[in-house]
Amino acid sequence: MNILGIETSCDETAAAVVRDGRDVLSNTILSQIKLHAPYGGVVPEIASRNHVEALPHVLETAIGDSGLDWDAIDAVAVTYGPGLSSSLMVGMAAAKALSQSLDRPLVAINHLEAHLYSIFLDPDLPDPEALGPLLVLLVSGGHSCLVDVEALGRYRLLGQTMDDAAGEAFDKGATLLGLGYPGGPQIENAARAGDPTAIDFPRSRQRKLTARVGDLDVDCCFSFSGLKTALLYYLKKHPAFDLADVAAGYQEAIVDTLVARTRDGLTKSGHKVLAAVGGVALNGRLRLKLEQLAQEEGVRLIPAGRAYCTDNAAMIAGLAGAGRGLRGADAMSADANPNLCVAAS
Ligand code: KG4
Ligand code: ZN
Repeated sequence: MNILGIETSCDETAAAVVRDGRDVLSNTILSQIKLHAPYGGVVPEIASRNHVEALPHVLETAIGDSGLDWDAIDAVAVTYGPGLSSSLMVGMAAAKALSQSLDRPLVAINHLEAHLYSIFLDPDLPDPEALGPLLVLLVSGGHSCLVDVEALGRYRLLGQTMDDAAGEAFDKGATLLGLGYPGGPQIENAARAGDPTAIDFPRSRQRKLTARVGDLDVDCCFSFSGLKTALLYYLKKHPAFDLADVAAGYQEAIVDTLVARTRDGLTKSGHKVLAAVGGVALNGRLRLKLEQLAQEEGVRLIPAGRAYCTDNAAMIAGLAGAGRGLRGADAMSADANPNLCVAAS
């Protein structure tokens, strides 16, 4: 089963061909980072307009790189949420049109579920059933959550951010520091020469059972807005700040917060496998500290492959190949859902 995947939920225009859910034949990603960088974040109108312009070429490249002809495509999979609605609509319109013109079924995929699945694009990993239950730390520019994955399709959201996502905390921190967008790699780079203990930024956590916590486990919820404010005040108080030390301290606070909540998630779920997915899972300091956590807790850590951490279409086609997603009339009538939740799958 060769599935063509399309992903346009945010600022990456991506298409990929994946065979039988695991074998990535091609993975084309056109990043719009340079177009959004002057604004310090993604501008929805610019993103959707560029998806329209880039998608035909990205699709042709994905098919060309796969070594297959259009005829060999058995289904078309597309992200239908969450994300920017105007961006999602571009990919969905293209996928619906392709499904009809190729006379192949359409599969509508939840972007967050696809991030959870991204670890399985590593050919050395066993199938989801063989791997068993796992705890997934999903950290990206739009989302930060801990998900208890009992099996493929059986998810329980344990906790999530109460305000900014981890990637957003990196991006906003970088803006305050005068670094470029996206902020994660910039802060990681600046932090290399710094001392992570030189400045003690707050590791704030959610303690109150607010309406936003709802049914979630408060011990598995994150909060980053206080940290961002602490950085703002630090910079005001120390105009001649040491960039490397500030970046290292700020990164350390984000990483420590994620690792502490993940530790609680492991204790509560009792799972012996931990996965880290999403753009922030590229962060070397986070990977190192999760590795230490895994050793201390006696669990196996599976970070997503570096090519599959940030948004990509291989995870969309892969998840569809694993039998997930809306199909038939449900897929054809699906609207873009900007607020789709991970547990809605
Ligand atoms: O998963 P992704 O491509 O997009 C969403 O689905 O949101 O993640 C993008 C986010 C950005 O916020 C970016 O700053 C962050 O991932 N990121 C990093 C690193 N590389 C990307 N954060 C920390 N360290 C990195 N090396
Ligand atoms: Zn994403």
